Amino acid sequence: MASDKYFLYHGLLLPAVAHNEESLKYACDFKVHDQDVFAVTYPKSGTTWMQEILPLILNGGDLTPVQSIPNWDRVPWLEETRASLVLKGQPSPRAMVSHLPYHLMPPSFFTSKAKVIYVTRNPKDVMVSSFYFHKMASFLDDPGTFDEFLDKFLSGQVLFGKWTDHVKSWYSSDLGDRILYITYEEMVKDLRGVVERFSRFLGRELSKEALDRVAKQCYFSNMKTNPMSNYSLVPQDIMDSSKSPFLRKGIVGDWKNHFNPEQDAKFTAVLKEETKELDIKFPWEE
Ligand code: A3P
Repeated sequence: MASDKYFLYHGLLLPAVAHNEESLKYACDFKVHDQDVFAVTYPKSGTTWMQEILPLILNGGDLTPVQSIPNWDRVPWLEETRASLVLKGQPSPRAMVSHLPYHLMPPSFFTSKAKVIYVTRNPKDVMVSSFYFHKMASFLDDPGTFDEFLDKFLSGQVLFGKWTDHVKSWYSSDLGDRILYITYEEMVKDLRGVVERFSRFLGRELSKEALDRVAKQCYFSNMKTNPMSNYSLVPQDIMDSSKSPFLRKGIVGDWKNHFNPEQDAKFTAVLKEETKELDIKFPWEE
């Protein structure tokens, strides 16, 4: 049962702290420009990371935006309450993030030429990250035990609904070369190579030096100490980093430290069944 901490949108739970009828209407009516760039993610899949990478690429490797503007005002969430303030009068190219499933993107998005980078992460690591996020964020319900949270995750009683629905919606999109699919795991493995791919995709090729600079700035250790990106500007009664930092571990495979064999088998079986029509092999699948 959803608590008053959540705003229900097309059956999806959204945090009421940053979403309401007005913000969703703004997102729905939003006039997407051809030059706009979106990074779309299921929560806890690397959104903050994309909020670091995109402005650096779009600004030719200049570090100023990520050193001076908090991530939520630098690359706002289209569906959140701050979007209208941040995006008002902003010149192109505008960079935004979104957790919306494909079919809930604004109608003007589909007729535009705006580009999208869709980031997917191993759902087991997503669940672990989300579990700790629920512990530290006072605007979310307590996750309960890991076992209880696992059931909520699998049934979609979590932020933005089921992981499988989100991923299926974006992987069945019909955007041709307007969309680039990437995984968190690829980003961890070769960040510089991924930044290079992004910059080529966005038509903003960077010099070797700029690529080095951008990748370095976006390493986990550097983002963790950047007050404009590590959520330390948020008061402790809203996000309590003593319970768990927002930029927590930044690694691949932390699920192995959390799932017991029964939980792993259950999770894997559900995911396998629900993604069987997807003709893709993710890096975490053998
Ligand atoms: P963990 O909790 O596993 O550490 P989102 O921004 O979508 O909410 O995702 C948050 C997750 O992305 C957290 O995962 C966070 O640490 C991780 N993350 C953010 N920046 C990262 C980076 N530069 N490198 C690796 N992981 C990063």
